[in-house]
Amino acid sequence: MATAEQIKSLIRSHFSDESERFFTIALQVAAHEAQQGHGELAHDIRLIVDKAKQVQSPIIQMKFPQDLQGLVLADEPQAPLAALVMPDAIKARVDRIIHEYRQQQKLKTHGLSHRRKILLIGPPGTGKTMTARVLAHELRLQLFTIQADKVVTKFMGETSAKLRQIFDLIEEEPGVYFFDEFDAIGGERMLENDVGEMRRVLNSFLQFVEQDTSDSLIVAATNSPKLLDRALYRRFDDVLYYENPDATERATLMQNVLGTFIATKMAWKSLTAGSLGLSHAEIDQACRDAIKQAILSDRTAVDTALLSSMLRERLDTHGKRRE
Ligand SMILES: Nc1ncnc2c1ncn2[C@@H]1O[C@H](COP(=O)(O)OP(=O)(O)O)[C@@H](O)[C@H]1O
Ligand SMILES: [Mg+2]
Repeated sequence: MATAEQIKSLIRSHFSDESERFFTIALQVAAHEAQQGHGELAHDIRLIVDKAKQVQSPIIQMKFPQDLQGLVLADEPQAPLAALVMPDAIKARVDRIIHEYRQQQKLKTHGLSHRRKILLIGPPGTGKTMTARVLAHELRLQLFTIQADKVVTKFMGETSAKLRQIFDLIEEEPGVYFFDEFDAIGGERMLENDVGEMRRVLNSFLQFVEQDTSDSLIVAATNSPKLLDRALYRRFDDVLYYENPDATERATLMQNVLGTFIATKMAWKSLTAGSLGLSHAEIDQACRDAIKQAILSDRTAVDTALLSSMLRERLDTHGKRRE
């Protein structure tokens, strides 16, 4: 039978809306059963999980114009604020966006508007996309992701018209609108290619952002702040800077992702040292790789050696040096 700890974790993850965690623990129970010689039960549990995963996260029926399909993706993400690992100061600001959105009527009666045009800046894998997902989840809004690079490259010459359509949608359909790879629109680098067109695109984007008075949240993310025109910053109500996790954040992240897979004795000092230079996404991936490895070898926990080797693999892949 499953251990008491596993049963408690299952219940907890169910009520905290963390379906990924729920699946992980279910698989852990399967591994546990397999170890006890209950192969058939383990097999059944895995089947149930596989099936449930297939029906998860259905793509929302697009309510927007046919010709925006492929440029705007709709989703209802499951990402609680609690899962974001970041400095308290940044978290407080994400929290404030959520709070102001919820209290927008109260602000309106005093002639104030909630902050809703947000710029996220930071290296890959530090949680920019995840933040957009968290905002949508916490505010029970749909997430609409605009593939800015596609809008620009596919529609050279008619990008402004596409942008207008997108901003019409922002007005009509309340949601979180996430402009990913935002520098494709705002980048100075692109200005060299086709000066006239890119200036027009950038200017119309700025105008659209500025004129927008919808109830939607507009979130733009970029990896390369240097490429952004400083004039862009002023159009946003908030600019949040993301960075790779520090030692404490790395440990928290590993503990969160491993969950009930944490072995009783872990050498956290060596693990945080061994993950220096990795992004949140890379650490997250290393932990999942370790969990998979444990499950496939019918082990119920990830120990220091296993996680260390997965972290090292990530560091090697990215050609980074351990310090
Ligand atoms: N700050 C974070 N806290 C917790 N998990 C994170 C964080 N940043 C990234 N991750 C994990 O890595 C994945 C990819 O990160 P993502 O948000 O796409 O990074 P970015 O958009 O900054 O490149 C996330 O789905 C999440 O699982
Ligand atoms: Mg991203």
